[in-house]
Amino acid sequence: MKTTRKKISLLLSAACLAAFALAACSKDDGPTAPPVDTNDSTYVSADTLRAVGATVFANNCSGCHGTNGEGSHGPAVANSDFFMNNRQVIINLVLRGNTSNPPYIDSMVVNGRLVLGGGMPAWHDILTNKEIASVLTYLRSVLNDSTVVSCTSGDQPVCTKVARTPAAMAMDTVAFREVMAVRDSLKAKGVFTAP
Ligand code: HEC
Repeated sequence: MKTTRKKISLLLSAACLAAFALAACSKDDGPTAPPVDTNDSTYVSADTLRAVGATVFANNCSGCHGTNGEGSHGPAVANSDFFMNNRQVIINLVLRGNTSNPPYIDSMVVNGRLVLGGGMPAWHDILTNKEIASVLTYLRSVLNDSTVVSCTSGDQPVCTKVARTPAAMAMDTVAFREVMAVRDSLKAKGVFTAP
């Protein structure tokens, strides 16, 4: 048994050495991310994130941001340049809200419109990391089907948009680990204590 293993391992090393010139033996330190381990109990598929995200959005966000995220009392989160260009800031904003004094974000320009900070509630004690990852995935990969390239200024800005490909949208997910990392850092900074 032992000798067989040794032989196999020797064979493998030889194969590795032979293939070394082709860089086939480098471990997982290459330019591409390691494949997702679907056996990992923390793994949530993109389809699940989108399905859960649609419900999270309908139940918690659509009242202020519009049924399809087009904006109402709150600004647009569908086809929104501010939303798409500020991934980390948005995770922070959703967790901690924007009602502190002074607000986390003083003011923001959403599709050419100036929005003063103040009305966005905090969700850290209402939504789990998975629910926040889900709703952000739903927004990025379903409701943002166009990229806002530029907008005119003034009271009624007009924006130029380019349609996104279904493939680019399908890959645009937010992992629950990203939300967990931001939640942990906000707790470490004492922005909120729990959960
Ligand atoms: C009570 C109304 C209200 C609810 C409910 C609400 N928001 Fe907001 N949201 C606002 C307002 C007002 C702003 C802009 C001012 C600010 O940030 O304080 C905002 C800003 C935002 C922004 C940044 C600006 C933009 O349009 O890109 C995002 C992203 C966002 N909200 C996501 C969400 C998500 C996700 C939910 C549900 C989990 C949600 N909001 C629920 C009122 C709300």
